[in-house]
Amino acid sequence: MSRLDVTEPLAAPDLVRQRVQRDYERFAKSGLPTSLEQYLLDEYDLDVTAEYAGLSIKNPWGKASGQLSMTARQVEEDVAAGLGFVVLKTVIAQDEQGGQSMAAWAIPEARMVAEPIVGQSGEAGWTITWKGRGWWQQFEAYLQLIRDARRIADDTGTLIVPSCKYHLPSPNEAEWRVGEYDFTTAKMLEAWQPGASPMPLEKDFSPTLAGSDRAATQAKILEWLRVVPKLVRNSSARSGLGQVRIGMKLFNALFDDGFQLEMLDAIHGPATNRPDFFIYANRLFDPNREFDGQRGVAFGGPDLSDRNLRVLDQWRTSSPLPWSATGNITTGRMAVEYLLRGATSFQLHTFFQLPAEHYAMKIGNRTQRALHELHFHPQTGFVVWLHHLANQRGVSDRLIRLLDVAGGSLSER
Ligand SMILES: Cc1cc2nc3c(=O)[nH]c(=O)nc-3n(C[C@H](O)[C@H](O)[C@H](O)COP(=O)(O)O)c2cc1C
Repeated sequence: MSRLDVTEPLAAPDLVRQRVQRDYERFAKSGLPTSLEQYLLDEYDLDVTAEYAGLSIKNPWGKASGQLSMTARQVEEDVAAGLGFVVLKTVIAQDEQGGQSMAAWAIPEARMVAEPIVGQSGEAGWTITWKGRGWWQQFEAYLQLIRDARRIADDTGTLIVPSCKYHLPSPNEAEWRVGEYDFTTAKMLEAWQPGASPMPLEKDFSPTLAGSDRAATQAKILEWLRVVPKLVRNSSARSGLGQVRIGMKLFNALFDDGFQLEMLDAIHGPATNRPDFFIYANRLFDPNREFDGQRGVAFGGPDLSDRNLRVLDQWRTSSPLPWSATGNITTGRMAVEYLLRGATSFQLHTFFQLPAEHYAMKIGNRTQRALHELHFHPQTGFVVWLHHLANQRGVSDRLIRLLDVAGGSLSER
């Protein structure tokens, strides 16, 4: 159930709505202000300082791991556009001899299309359909991408985040291949720069796992979630090269909402098993849908956000880990929905990949065009919906801090 119970940001003051309309039109022609954060603070009393993995970031918008963060050029564009963070494509772990237990996930992308999709609610949206999984180039090329991305982002305030798929035992496999954890973590830390600040790292549990035998046993999935953080931490300690902040990117399994809650609970167990943060939640999986001769494909769109928000509404915990939201964030309004449930950052893939005619801005790169829509759209943008919220709570005369909304204290200051 949505916590924004109206479809128009009617509670946003008229003056704000008029200014947003003006900015939407003029920025579509001129491009966004150089420091968007400062502009939002000065013009709209919005402090968009956010957090990712418990680290402070300049704004909450990030590129989710995938085909749009595979090259230095892509990272360069995102840094230039001012994203708060960029999660690199998922690399498949390997051991010292180059052995990859998850090699089936290192297959080249064949074809990728952005398609309209209608959710079960009747709401229209977008999904990316493709065939392919993780990084398929040499591991060394991924390490070079980490080095390049770090150099490009240096001093810009954009956080770089590697992503990895380590070995996960199947239901009838008892052993964990610790060699893959050790070798891959050490190499990534080396590329990150030893001695630097902790390296945030996403552990991808790709939704395509849900269609394979590997997801057959719920108990095994819960074991994965409990064991992986410790393994990664042990590997980084053994390497002596620095610390990792490990985040679990939870996926939508092929089970009911109750199992999603069990997954969330599994990462909130004893402190030694806990990750440092999590990402909720990767795409849905349709085992019957066919694409390019492949049966079973992942999909997103309105069903993905409906399910994510529904599960998050049911989940109760007294001390949640910091978390980053993913899943059908195609408007500022949807970002506010996740924010209200405690997310302190938003990571998008699909919305950075729509056909050019779906962005009003006609200059700049696609990331800039997307940010323009996300912030300034007069009906669905982040600015009007944050002001709507503040006005509803009787605090429209004060600075609106994003982290207060996430922490549930917007009306208490
Ligand atoms: C083409 C494509 C490739 C992706 N590759 C990865 C990946 O390698 N690792 C990962 O963790 N998530 C991957 N994802 C999932 C996205 O990072 C994101 O979490 C998901 O698509 C939901 O966000 P969206 O609705 O904004 O697309 C991929 C998604 C797409 C569409």
